[in-house]
Amino acid sequence: MVKNIAVIRGDGIGPEIVEQALKVLNKVAKAYGHTFNYTDVDMGGCAVDKYGDPLPEAELKKCVESDSVLLGAVGGNKWNDVPGYMRPEKGLLRLRAGMGVYSNNRPAKIWKQLADASPLKKSIVDKGINFIIVRELIGGIYFGEHKTEEVDGKPTAIDILTYNEEEIERIGRIGFETARKRNKKLCSVEKSNVLDSSRLWKKVMHKLADEYPDVELSDMLVDNCAMQIVKNPSQFDVVVTENMFGDILSDEASMITGSIGMIPSSSLGATTCGLYEPIHGSAPDIAGRDLANPIGTILSAAMMLRYSFDLDEEADAIENAVSAYLDAGYRTADIMSDGMTQVGCEKCGDLVTENLRKV
Ligand code: IPM
Ligand code: MG
Repeated sequence: MVKNIAVIRGDGIGPEIVEQALKVLNKVAKAYGHTFNYTDVDMGGCAVDKYGDPLPEAELKKCVESDSVLLGAVGGNKWNDVPGYMRPEKGLLRLRAGMGVYSNNRPAKIWKQLADASPLKKSIVDKGINFIIVRELIGGIYFGEHKTEEVDGKPTAIDILTYNEEEIERIGRIGFETARKRNKKLCSVEKSNVLDSSRLWKKVMHKLADEYPDVELSDMLVDNCAMQIVKNPSQFDVVVTENMFGDILSDEASMITGSIGMIPSSSLGATTCGLYEPIHGSAPDIAGRDLANPIGTILSAAMMLRYSFDLDEEADAIENAVSAYLDAGYRTADIMSDGMTQVGCEKCGDLVTENLRKV
C-alpha cells in the first residue's frame, strides 16, 4: 500500500516526538511492504516565524490533499504576545476546520504496566479504566466570534458559543456508532441546567437514541462528569460532548491513566483523511532535552493505520511493541517509577521500533 502522509512537527517537543513515530512507521512499512511518503508541513509558532502566519493556505492544502496528517504539537511562550489570529493554536484550529474533522476520539485506557502511575487509589484503578471521549472538534465556543471591545466604558471580552442541530447530530451519531462497537453505553455530557446550546444538545441526543435502541444513553452535567471521572471512572464506556467540555475532560481523563504523554487521538470527518495527534501540548519547558514521552504520538500513528488506512494488523503491531517496551521495564521521566529503567525520548522510539514484530 502506498500512502502520502503530511507531517507537522510543530513547536516545542513536537519535532522530537514526531521523529520517533516516523521511525516506528518506517519499520511498519518495511515489515509489511508498504510505502509511506512524507510531506513536511509548517504549522504553529515555527510557521509564524517563517511566514507570519500559523498556517499558510499552501500548507493547509498539503494536508487536505494527503491521505492523512500526523501532528506533534504547536505553541509556546515565545508567541504569547502575538495577536490572537496569529497564535500558533489558531493554526491548529484552522487545520481542524479546513480538514472538516468534526469528530475527535480520545481514548482513556490504563495500561496494566502503568497501574501504579495513576494518581487514583488502587481500589478505583482495579475496577478498570477504559473509555473513549468523543469530542466535537470544529464548532462551539472555539469557533464563535471572539472580540474585546469597550462596553459601557469598560474593556469587555466576548466569546460566542453556537451549535446548530446538524452539528450536534453528526457528532451524536459518531458517539452512538462508537458505543455500538464497544460496550453499548453512551454518556452525553452537557450543561443543560444553564446553557441553551446544551439543552439543544440533549434534545438531539435523545432523538437519535430512537435509532440506536441497542445503545444505552445517559445524560450527565459536565461538572458532575468531572467529579465522576475521578470517583468512579469504570462507569464510562463512551462519552460524547461538545468542543470545550471535551478539551477539559480529556486532560482529566488522561491523567488518571498515568500520564497525558501516553494518550493518542484521531480526528475524522466525512472522508478517511484524518488528523492524528497526541492530546498533550508542546511542553516548551522540556523541549530539546530528550525528556518527552513519544508514546502518545506513536500510538496516534497506530490510530492512523487503523482508522484511515484500514491496516488493523499493522496498528496491532505498534500497540504490541509499546506494550513489550513497557513490559521490559523502560519508562520515560513522566511515568518513571521505582525499579524501572529511565530512558529519553529517542531511546524510547528506538526500543519501540526494535520491539515491533509482524503479527
Ligand atoms: C487540545 C489542545 C488544543 C485544544 C489547543 C492547543 C488549541 O488543548 O488538542 O486539546 O484546545 O483543542
Ligand atoms: Mg486540550
